[in-house]
Amino acid sequence: MKNIVVLISGQGRNLQALIKAQCAGHLSAHIAAVISNRADAAGLEIARSAGIHTQTVPHTDYSLRSDFDAALAEAIDRHQPHIVVMAGFMRVVGETFIQRFNGRMLNIHPSLLPKYSGLHTHQRALAAGDAEHGATVHFVTAELDGGPRIIQGALSVQAQDTAQTLAARVLHEIELKIYPQAVAWMARDELQLLDGAVRFRGAPLAAPLTMQDLEPEFR
Ligand code: GRF
Repeated sequence: MKNIVVLISGQGRNLQALIKAQCAGHLSAHIAAVISNRADAAGLEIARSAGIHTQTVPHTDYSLRSDFDAALAEAIDRHQPHIVVMAGFMRVVGETFIQRFNGRMLNIHPSLLPKYSGLHTHQRALAAGDAEHGATVHFVTAELDGGPRIIQGALSVQAQDTAQTLAARVLHEIELKIYPQAVAWMARDELQLLDGAVRFRGAPLAAPLTMQDLEPEFR
């Protein structure tokens, strides 16, 4: 059974979806630990009530980013993870950290990358008058929110949408489906990062997978 370590900073709704998928036997992997940079992350309570080991590595304890990265990497490696899942993890990590987990670390970003890397993605999509918006699961590389994309989900922006309503729809209709699916594919060794490109079931991905590629248990 492959080990997963999940990194969080906040509410943990993506974590919750992963725990649900694991409990339903849809992940064929085991969440060995949940690690947060914030002791007040609500997701830690979600992990604890699911009986999952939790740990906090407070970024405020380290004056140097590189020291925080090293402490976080040590905490992660104690669980020998095959997969590291950033789920609402709000720290920018350095290249040494990224190299250590290269090809094994995923992130979810609430936009149709490469559009709107960085913060405030929903506000920016609304301000641009985009007809569509969504979320992306990608491998983590040194380029912030710029790693090779695995799966993307899109929805139509509605006239009455605010950043809050849009964020909620993207989270519930897209993120909480595509992330467990992506982790399930990783756990089955159906996804590889090779020479900076995503391979899915042995073939290069010409474009990110979509909601249509979701397996029934993740729809
Ligand atoms: C999600 O929208 C995710 O895309 C972003 O952080 C938000 C909150 O995530 N990275 P969670 O509730 O902590 O999973």
